[in-house]
Amino acid sequence: MAIKYIENRNLWILETKNTAYCFAKYKDGHIKNTYYGPKLVFESDYPGIENYIDRDYWLWDEELPVRGEGNFVEHNIKINFEDGTRDVVLELKDFIIKKNELKMIYVDTHYNVQITTVYNIKEEFDLIERHQIIENNNENIIKIEDAKSGTFYIPNKKEAKINYLTGMWIHEFQKRKEPINEGKKILESRLGKTSAFLNPFIAVDYSANQSNGEIFFGLVKWSGNWKIEVQKQLYERIAVTMGLNEWDFNIFLNPGKCFETPEIVFGYTNQGFDYMTHCLHSYTRKKILPENNSDTQKKVLYNSWEATLFDVNEENQKELAKKAADIGIELFVMDDGWFGNRNDDSKGLGDWFVNKNKFPDGLTPLIEYVNKLGMDFGLWVEPEMVNPNSELYRKHPEWVLHFPNRPKTEKRNQLILNIAKQEVKEYILEFMNDLLNNHNIKYIKWDMNRYVFESGWPEKNSEKQKEIWYYYVKNLYDIMISLRKNHPEVIFENCSSGGGRVDLGIMNFYDEVWPSDNTNPFDRQYIQEGFSMVYPTSIMRSWVTDWEGKNTYPLDFRFKVSMAGSLGIGSNLKEFDIKDIEIAKKNIELYKQIRNVIQHGKYYLLNSIYEDNYQALQYTKNNDTVLFVYINPKALNNFSSYNIKLRGLEEKSLYKIEETGENLSGKALMERGITIYPEIKIDAAIRKKDLFTAKLFRFRKDEKK
Ligand code: DGJ
Repeated sequence: MAIKYIENRNLWILETKNTAYCFAKYKDGHIKNTYYGPKLVFESDYPGIENYIDRDYWLWDEELPVRGEGNFVEHNIKINFEDGTRDVVLELKDFIIKKNELKMIYVDTHYNVQITTVYNIKEEFDLIERHQIIENNNENIIKIEDAKSGTFYIPNKKEAKINYLTGMWIHEFQKRKEPINEGKKILESRLGKTSAFLNPFIAVDYSANQSNGEIFFGLVKWSGNWKIEVQKQLYERIAVTMGLNEWDFNIFLNPGKCFETPEIVFGYTNQGFDYMTHCLHSYTRKKILPENNSDTQKKVLYNSWEATLFDVNEENQKELAKKAADIGIELFVMDDGWFGNRNDDSKGLGDWFVNKNKFPDGLTPLIEYVNKLGMDFGLWVEPEMVNPNSELYRKHPEWVLHFPNRPKTEKRNQLILNIAKQEVKEYILEFMNDLLNNHNIKYIKWDMNRYVFESGWPEKNSEKQKEIWYYYVKNLYDIMISLRKNHPEVIFENCSSGGGRVDLGIMNFYDEVWPSDNTNPFDRQYIQEGFSMVYPTSIMRSWVTDWEGKNTYPLDFRFKVSMAGSLGIGSNLKEFDIKDIEIAKKNIELYKQIRNVIQHGKYYLLNSIYEDNYQALQYTKNNDTVLFVYINPKALNNFSSYNIKLRGLEEKSLYKIEETGENLSGKALMERGITIYPEIKIDAAIRKKDLFTAKLFRFRKDEKK
């Protein structure tokens, strides 16, 4: 049983495969968190309330810290009642255990408001999901001013370090690690979407490395304004609070209504970062991603953006499609520029009808051509946005987010449609359904190219307007629920000027994401390593492009870097010579053979590009293992060899290395490792980029041993 209640100790124990999380009822009725860490042997091993030290002057270790009664920890809930009372005082009314779900039901001691904390135990992934439901049984409306999803407490030790992902446009998912000092460290978004600046993920490690050591980690499943707060005092445990951002936030709850917070998910391991990554990857694949697509192998795609930009037309897309099919592409995606009066980014956004100058007979002749070549067809859209220079805006200027008497600031010449409005939601659903009903489209790249500010909703009174942040995201999710239901065969990619909206909330509805517009293979190693620490490699779309010119980085190197996720090509194929075509064909063919291991295997970071001049990545699924080693010119300066030790293999099994023909035991591969010698003897002064090399090794376990 994953959840137990020990009556004589008033103790709740929530266990996963390897972890336990406990809380107990104190004599004053408060529920205090008492333990989070490794699963122990006996129930009596877990600390209960007996060990609790009452500090008298403030409330700490509260399982549900609300604003009220001297709660010192970042509040989960703040409510403003009609009579002006702004404190919440709760008592436990009941609890319900149903298989792996626990509901702790609290009621306010005076006002008729109920708050339920819901825990879902994901045993096999060593994770706990948590969210809260606020129910207004009053006769009056209540104003919720803060509605976080939960707090967990972790050991307060000197070696505790916080790990997070930061970045910006074209430099997303940069790994950072720093000590935790007294006070608060806040990670958040106030930009209406997840944002490229910070990702809603946190891990606190205690001198952990990839394969050993303690880590507590958590994520917010939300694609709008989120917040993670790490709070350290001198003596108490460190409190980590996660959920919706309370900045500029309000929800008015009518009598008889409920408000549910988004979920957070958190976990613990003492087996290092690889294990954390494995828990998160398999949880995301099995429990978050749309069911029909999470296990399938991602097709190799071609995207037209970098080849033709806005200048798409039937002829040039057919030409690219033919070349794409010839090198083994399986999915052809036409990017921006096919609709309205869209010849650059200054106009047309919002006018979702086919541009007849570019496609005189509509999209069907191109789609049929692509299909005849044996490829699926995909299309780019950006439904949440509008250019002021568009038919849609001229007809409905009132549809955009804005404050009266204030500028409507354009970014990339575009404004944001208020999709919290029912009529806007319906407009998007109508054109998307038309597009997908009338064309054989198997893939949608859904873009969103700006941050949300000037978030006014003039039809609402000023306090009500703050609900926009929540309902914008909620309606986006509703749109996706409806589209997925109507078009179950369509794969959706989420893009937001690259990786500006990557989180577990969006992944419920989108099958894959575009992590960054930056396709420079060296920068990409940093981006991909950060991304893959948290999110599955199967959903990390990665294109080979000519971003920095055709000859800056060797084509083979660019391919191998992109093969670390779901391979795509964005190069201008018209400029490929015979040699390039050969390299492309060979790598695409190779990728098709190994993609199941890369997309669905266990990912191990063997050597980090953040710490060294080369990166080594391992993927293992059943009997197959793939190893990528990316060697950068600076590394060659050492004139040294690289010894790479694999992980997670069976010590006594025999592994054949496809590339060298060698047969080695798992123990040898993990303890002796394999050694790579630089191929080129170079002068230390040479720093030419064409010295970037990538090595790929395939290992197959002999089933006979
Ligand atoms: C931004 C995306 O990140 C690009 O890949 C491309 O789709 C452009 N938008 C199109 O406008």
